[in-house]
Amino acid sequence: MSKRKGIVLAGGVATRLFPLTLSISKQIMPVYDKPMIYYPISVLMEANIKEILIISTPAYINTFKELLGDGSKWGISFTYKVQEKPNGLAEAFILGEEFIGNSNVAMILGDNMFYGNNLNKILKSADERENEATIFGYYVKDPTAYGVVEIDENKRAISIEEKPKVPKSNYAVPGLYFYPNSVVEIAKKIKPSARGELEITEVSSEYMRRNLLKVEILGRQMVWFDTGTYDSLLETASFVQTIEKRQGIQICCPEEIAYKKGWISTNELSNLADKLMKTEYGKFLKDLAENKIIF
Ligand code: G1P
Repeated sequence: MSKRKGIVLAGGVATRLFPLTLSISKQIMPVYDKPMIYYPISVLMEANIKEILIISTPAYINTFKELLGDGSKWGISFTYKVQEKPNGLAEAFILGEEFIGNSNVAMILGDNMFYGNNLNKILKSADERENEATIFGYYVKDPTAYGVVEIDENKRAISIEEKPKVPKSNYAVPGLYFYPNSVVEIAKKIKPSARGELEITEVSSEYMRRNLLKVEILGRQMVWFDTGTYDSLLETASFVQTIEKRQGIQICCPEEIAYKKGWISTNELSNLADKLMKTEYGKFLKDLAENKIIF
């Protein structure tokens, strides 16, 4: 089991989804058949992280508590913390100081989804790099909406910029960050950017300056979406629908991961399925509990 702790940051105002998000949290909205936050939680679970802090806004923290509870139904534990204002992603490490304690930490943004055959291996090696930070690079046609990392021939980062108008590479930095415990101190020292936020890009840049930053390039076999706009939300949902219907599998299903990792029993899985039997989701869980899914 990983000793690393996990944070899902599900804050923000989501202005790019207005009016959808005027009275609802972005990360609670559906991505096809499940709430958006199930996707990032699944990634942390895949990384064998069982202690997870959920950070959200004063308006929505209770919605997440209602949806997720204390985590015991999935054999894990959730703790909750409010981010009063959207002061930036790096504030998560300051808000999470007590939760993080002496551990290393992985943070994932509540609107990011990852899918791919290699994900397990990639997460494992990031977790095992205890004294170094790991960020990821994902080749996209237009990286201007993201953090962008420029790498040299040895795949070391030379620059990281937040939403550059003229990007130095096509490698977007997905919202998944593995940091050593020192991240808490680093986050406390960085200054707000021109838009008034503690930028995650600054945290990663500090590890780069200390020569402690690994950039893991996610290849063609990996799928990464950030569901922050209407189009990406719909595209992600369509992707999930296509694969799930074609193969009869589930993408980023916390119950399945918990079961396969032995964190919940067959009986517990079956009970979770019972509540969802009007859906393919529930039937999938039932089949899994009854050993009808072979792969
Ligand atoms: C944030 C980060 C950005 C990263 C992106 C990934 O941007 O600031 O560096 O590439 O998440 O989803 P946001 O989408 O919150 O504007």
